[in-house]
This record gives sequence, C-alpha cells and structure tokens, in this order.
Amino acid sequence: MTTILGIETSCDETAAAVVDDGYSVRSNVIASQVDLHRKYGGVVPEIASRAHIERIDSVIREAMEIASATLDDIDAIAVTAEPGLVGSLLIGITAAKTLSLAWDKPLLAVDHVLAHALSPAIEVQPPPWPAVALIVSGGHTTLYHIHDFDRIDRLGGTTDDAAGEAFDKVATILDLPYPGGPEIDKLARTGDPKRFEFPRTMLGRDSLDFSFSGIKTAVLYHVHGQGKTSGGLNRWNAQDLSDIAASFQQAVVDVLVKKALRAVKKTKASAVVLGGGVAANQCLRKTLADACEQQGLTFHAAAMQFCMDNAAMIAAAGFHQFKRGDLATLELAATAGLQR
Ligand code: KG4
Ligand code: ZN
Repeated sequence: MTTILGIETSCDETAAAVVDDGYSVRSNVIASQVDLHRKYGGVVPEIASRAHIERIDSVIREAMEIASATLDDIDAIAVTAEPGLVGSLLIGITAAKTLSLAWDKPLLAVDHVLAHALSPAIEVQPPPWPAVALIVSGGHTTLYHIHDFDRIDRLGGTTDDAAGEAFDKVATILDLPYPGGPEIDKLARTGDPKRFEFPRTMLGRDSLDFSFSGIKTAVLYHVHGQGKTSGGLNRWNAQDLSDIAASFQQAVVDVLVKKALRAVKKTKASAVVLGGGVAANQCLRKTLADACEQQGLTFHAAAMQFCMDNAAMIAAAGFHQFKRGDLATLELAATAGLQR
C-alpha cells in the first residue's frame, strides 16, 4: 500500500489529507476561510496567505491524527504547485518541502486543476475513464480528455472569467451574499429560466474554450440599465430577481453542457465526469446528466467533498505521479499559472 499526505493551499482553503493508493481517503481536513473574505466580496490574497500560515500546522496535524497515520506510514508528500495565488501556494509548498526534508520523504508537485479532473475517481471503482472531464469552479473552467490516470489531454479552458467567478460576480450585482454561486442556485429554483435571454458565448464552431465575462456585463446592464434608464436593483421585484438568476444560470449551464458534448464528439469518449465547486449546482448536474443520458453516455459527478478545493484530490493525483516516478525536488517553486 502507498500512503500519500496531500497539502492544498492554492486559494482560500487550507487543506490536508491522507490517502491510500490514490483511492481510500483516510482523512480530508479543510479549514475554509470564507468567513474572513466575505466582507470584501471575494478572496483577498494577503489575508488568504496569512490565514494559511496560521492554520497549516494544525490542519496537517489533524489530517495525520484522523488517519491514525504516523511518520512511518507516509510514503510521499504531495502539494499543489500551480495554479493559484502565489502567496497562498508558497505556504503549502514550504510546509511540504519542510516535511519532505525533515521526514526524508519524496516530494510531489501537483497541478491543482488536473487533480480536480481526477477527483471523480476517488473512492470509485472502476475509475470512470476514458472520459471527458468538465472542471468548473471559482478559479477554473477546463475540459480534459482523460484516457487514464497517466494520459490526460487538456482540450480547452476559459479565456477570461471562470464559471464560478461569473456566478459570484452576478450574485454581487444582485446584492446576494458571498460566495454567490450557491445563492444564485437557490434563487434560480423559483425563477423562470426563459424569461430573459442572456448571451451564450460559444467562441466559434469548434472551440472548446469558454468566455464568461460577456454574460456578466450583460446581466449588469440588464439589472442596472444604461445611462438615463438606470433604475438599479429597486426597479425589480423578488420574482424578477429570481427570473434573472434563473435566466443567467441557464445561459451558463447551456454553454457548459454544449461544450462538454462538443468535447465528447471530438474525442469519441463514452463518459463525462464533472468536478469543481460549481458541480454543486443543481441545474448543471441535472442538465448534464439528462444530456448524457439522451446521448447514451455515462455520467459521473465527483462526490461533493472532493468537488470543492480539498487535499484528498492532491494526494490522489500525487499517488499516480509517485507510481510513475514523477518526483519534485526542493527547488520546487510556486507558479501562478495562466491556463485556467
Ligand atoms: O472548487 P471551489 O470550492 O474553489 C475554487 O477552486 O474556486 O469552487 C468555489 C466556486 C465559487 O465560485 C462558488 O460560488 C461556486 O464554486 N459554487 C457554486 C455552487 N456552489 C459553489 N456555483 C453555482 N452553484 C452552486 N451550487
Ligand atoms: Zn479548485
């Protein structure tokens, strides 16, 4: 058995996990900073870095304790190396390097978005490959073709905002609390998704890239109006706001589902997997599941605890790197990374 300690600090969750064979999760500790960032309406990098520093030791200790793991049980340490906020990444990387040196264990540098893509296989047997993976969160919107754990092709990603970022920004326009994705999801349940027509940016016939900044601006203009017609939020009643949320959500979901199916056509995959924080969205889950059923495709969404940022997925992805000898050195640096 191979046991990996995973560490994740790429954004605003301080997380550590102990995972056996890239599959069995013995512990999965997540210290969320959402309360610290709420009043600013988004993640403040400097506050995130400081909170990681305060929490990283106890989070790692707790993950080891819950797993009843000792130093001897750990075969390697996997850490998120990219992409993310550099100040946040550095805290996890420094902790991982320190443990690697002090415990004399190999170090594994994990790509956070790839780890999201592999997360639908955690505690799932047999793994859902080959598949198209749609990874949607506050920081990323990416399509992958996963042949198996060791062969993964990136098919496309967002050229501007991530899908979750669009949800959060539209929630701010609608004066909803942060993080806005779950709030829009809730509000949309009582809304009419056909009442307003928001743009579905497809970026050309064959493109597997995404763009969500246009829809955010369209909602902003729609809600507040332009120039003299500006009436702000006050001109809308509660039902109007639900209809705006539902119409916005439907437009984003339509694009995500269409592009996932486009990727299936291109790769001839027979399965679609879904991961990342926005995978919690009821409309997305249902629409994608229905579309897959209609096309005779297998559909599988990652378990919720592995959708949000977590270290179990880092340990699981690290396991496959360890098996193929893909080790990092103590020279490992944090990379913000532009591909999302
Ligand atoms: O994966 P995650 O926890 O962190 C990032 O890597 O970003 O994803 C957080 C994102 C936020 O943008 C949040 O608003 C969005 O996922 N989100 C949702 C829902 N739950 C979380 N978006 C839409 N509907 C939801 N139910
Ligand atoms: Zn993430």
